[in-house]
Amino acid sequence: MKNVLVIDDDEKICWAFKQFLEGEGYNPTIANSAEEGLRRITSDKPDVVLLDVGLPGMSGLEALAEIKAHHPWVIVVIITAYDDVETTIEAMRLHAFDFVPKPIDLDVVKGVLERAFRTQSVRSTLPVETDSDSPAEQREHRLVGKSEQMREIYKLIGVMASNATTVLIEGETGTGKDLVARAIHMGSERKDKPFVPIDCGALPDELLESELFGYEAGAFTGAKAQGKPGRFELADSGTLFLDEVANMSPALQVKLLRTLQTQEIERLGGTRTLKVDVRVIAATNRELGEMVKLGEFRADLYYRFKRISLHLPPLRERQEDIPLLVTHFLQLIQDELGKPIRGISEEGMKLIQNYAWPGNVRELENCLRSAATLSRSDVILPDDLPSEIHTGHTLTSDSSHLETSLKSVLRGITKAAIAEGSQQLYDDVVTLLDKALIELALDECSDNHSKTAELLGISRTTLIKKIKQQGDENSRK
Ligand SMILES: Nc1ncnc2c1ncn2[C@@H]1O[C@H](COP(=O)(O)OP(=O)(O)OP(=O)(O)O)[C@@H](O)[C@H]1O
Ligand SMILES: [Mg+2]
Repeated sequence: MKNVLVIDDDEKICWAFKQFLEGEGYNPTIANSAEEGLRRITSDKPDVVLLDVGLPGMSGLEALAEIKAHHPWVIVVIITAYDDVETTIEAMRLHAFDFVPKPIDLDVVKGVLERAFRTQSVRSTLPVETDSDSPAEQREHRLVGKSEQMREIYKLIGVMASNATTVLIEGETGTGKDLVARAIHMGSERKDKPFVPIDCGALPDELLESELFGYEAGAFTGAKAQGKPGRFELADSGTLFLDEVANMSPALQVKLLRTLQTQEIERLGGTRTLKVDVRVIAATNRELGEMVKLGEFRADLYYRFKRISLHLPPLRERQEDIPLLVTHFLQLIQDELGKPIRGISEEGMKLIQNYAWPGNVRELENCLRSAATLSRSDVILPDDLPSEIHTGHTLTSDSSHLETSLKSVLRGITKAAIAEGSQQLYDDVVTLLDKALIELALDECSDNHSKTAELLGISRTTLIKKIKQQGDENSRK
């Protein structure tokens, strides 16, 4: 039975609501004050409450706060004067589900109730997943993901944490390079020493140089009278995290390489050589190897970094991690917003899983934060998700992601071909692709040749020829 509690001091309105709700198949109960309403919530456990804001005694907004504090899962719909913006905003802040303006239009009430019960039914299918044993700050820096690729990353982090060599972390924007750099530091013997990050993309060259190496008094106009230690000095016996390292100028790259080799620095304008013990972790979202080919990054520095490197996979290549990340972020976000978020509807989850996430984990996190903020209940519905999730690059339609995924597969094939000394890589790959694509297309079109040819954009004759060729090859093998 769908239980609805009406809290309103106007007996005529209550009577009208009761008739209407019974007529619509709901099971209404009535309370004429906030205090009585709160008692009824405990005894009758309604799913939805229609709450008038202008009540004698305890006000509707106070009652709303009280309900949300003790019964966060109850959906509360506020009945308010049309133009009362302040009450509207305050009620939103207190997590009201929706509003019904006065004078009451029963069609509006009907629509709101339908939506409210739809939300309740979605919610009842969601598991309650809490993670309350670890404190919020620990959860914030935790790496989440159980995919094969992430498990590989955890292993690498462990290996890298056990020594102090220079490390390069590569990966698209938002894949977690920062988080991984911190994890390597926190797993290492240096964990109680400083972790000093610097964004090499955010500073102009001269400034970056003085930030990294420090300067002596009078090194340049505007230099502080007492000089200033650089980040290398500040990170002594700890870890220096060079973020966006691809943005460093060639001159600075030379200086960095020298420092990595000698573990010695000189402040700008100084003559003393300082010995430092710094573990360097560098990160980039660009293809450093490509940059080396184009002469934009020094090969010697690249190879020094590359010896121990870790490539963070884009989110679209480890979709199975998405539900875990969603649960993780919703937990963080509900603490941050002080608003209970139980989960995401099945349809919402489908959209999230079908989206290509060009901004990776960061984009997912931001999307959930905005959805949770906008959501009028504790369940995120498709409507709460940003428009690009509905219309943007989906995994199936976006060719640039297809290209990236294909490249990663082809890289393996190419390496194998080099190892085998193959001289027909092109033919092999094209044949392979042709065969796979035709098989898939036939499968999708239930072996109907005309439909398959149409889908592929080739003639039926060509298709049949290709099928025959492939059959012949198979029988030769
Ligand atoms: N595996 C993960 N588990 C949990 N949170 C993650 C994970 N990966 C990334 N995040 C979160 O996503 C956000 C972006 O991650 P991070 O800043 O580490 O990305 P990045 O690779 O450094 O991106 P950019 O290249 O833009 O600097 C952060 O809030 C981070 O906590
Ligand atoms: Mg980063």
